[in-house]
Amino acid sequence: MKNVTCIADLRDLARRKVPRAFFDYADSGSYNEETLRANRADLEGIKLRQRVLVDVSARSLATTIVGQKVAAPLVLAPIGLCGMQRGNGEILAAQAAYEAGIPFTLSTMSICSIEDVAEATRKPFWFQLYVIRDRGFSKEILSRAVAAKCSALVLTVDLQVLGQRHRDIKNGMTVPPQIRLKNIIDVATKPAWAWSILTGKRKTFGNLAGHVKGMDNVNELAKWVGSQFDPALSWKDVEWIKKIWPGKLILKGILDADDAKTAVKLGADAIVVSNHGGRQLDGAPSSISALPKVADALGSGTEVLFDGGIRTGSDMMRALALGARACLVGRPYIYGLGAGGRPGVAKAIDILKSELSVTMALTGTNNIKDIDGRVIVGGKESKKPKKKAARKRR
Ligand SMILES: Cc1cc2nc3c(=O)[nH]c(=O)nc-3n(C[C@H](O)[C@H](O)[C@H](O)COP(=O)(O)O)c2cc1C
Repeated sequence: MKNVTCIADLRDLARRKVPRAFFDYADSGSYNEETLRANRADLEGIKLRQRVLVDVSARSLATTIVGQKVAAPLVLAPIGLCGMQRGNGEILAAQAAYEAGIPFTLSTMSICSIEDVAEATRKPFWFQLYVIRDRGFSKEILSRAVAAKCSALVLTVDLQVLGQRHRDIKNGMTVPPQIRLKNIIDVATKPAWAWSILTGKRKTFGNLAGHVKGMDNVNELAKWVGSQFDPALSWKDVEWIKKIWPGKLILKGILDADDAKTAVKLGADAIVVSNHGGRQLDGAPSSISALPKVADALGSGTEVLFDGGIRTGSDMMRALALGARACLVGRPYIYGLGAGGRPGVAKAIDILKSELSVTMALTGTNNIKDIDGRVIVGGKESKKPKKKAARKRR
């Protein structure tokens, strides 16, 4: 990966190495992709404040997320069909994450199962849950996550129905992949990918094996989601999950300050401000534009995590400055996985970490906890330390 210097390079490589249907699956957003584009455009619109002649020789990216020590404020987001970007993709990504000292999140819709990843890794990972109509399935998969010692549960709340991705339908994406006349040349020119899939542990949804029939193509998947994902899902289900999940609970997919307050009232330890990477409600605001209001509404008592459009360390800095405790990334590591397997994921993490470190230096920042609105042009000091100081003076 000598000539790879940024996430965009990994994307270019992934486009060449992964069959089109799977590259497009990762790359696209829902419908008109307005929210997908807004995630990037709004991040780029935030300007950072350059500071000079501050001693930044002892910078540290280390912090904690939901009480866990991490080497950087970065988490690999849950990605469905991760193992279709590269055989055993979930295992490779989990291993790269733990080598880098950051958490990996396994999706309910993964190819490798919870047990596959637990067997191949030495440290606990996070598990992401989609609650489906069959609550028995949700209960059972949660006990599998407990048995695998998953250290946090990420409950995704923005997918009661599926936002359509046009490219998936046009490409006729199937799981497991099918060789058709239409894609034979595409697959034949990606031998490393084909070999990794052929020799990988599984070729279809590992966590659902034995539970769901007819999961063999994206239209079937959409039908299954339509029938099994539950439009009646409500806050009551969050209360139910809170009762049966013994560990940290993180609600993912919140853009609204009132929803964030309800989540906390019901016992969420953290929330993720997210629009599912622009893959669900098209026309929703960018994640970064929603972040400050949510962070303000929750104050310092609850950890606010963030995702959507992060492609550089300076994007991470922007999100941290606007109230995020840490950032999740989806596509950056998926591109890395498609580009080069485990070393590709490690490269993606490395790029983001080192860019964040340089951004900290050039904004005169030494520690993650010191990052607040002051690193942004026109931004303000966070309210958190002020409140503490006021209490001390009384
Ligand atoms: C290909 C793909 C699959 C995804 N699958 C899931 C999933 O199974 N569960 C989930 O909660 N979020 C899923 N997401 C959303 C991500 O967890 C995350 O919110 C999003 O990727 C962040 O945006 P970014 O890709 O710009 O970093 C998926 C995203 C992508 C790109």
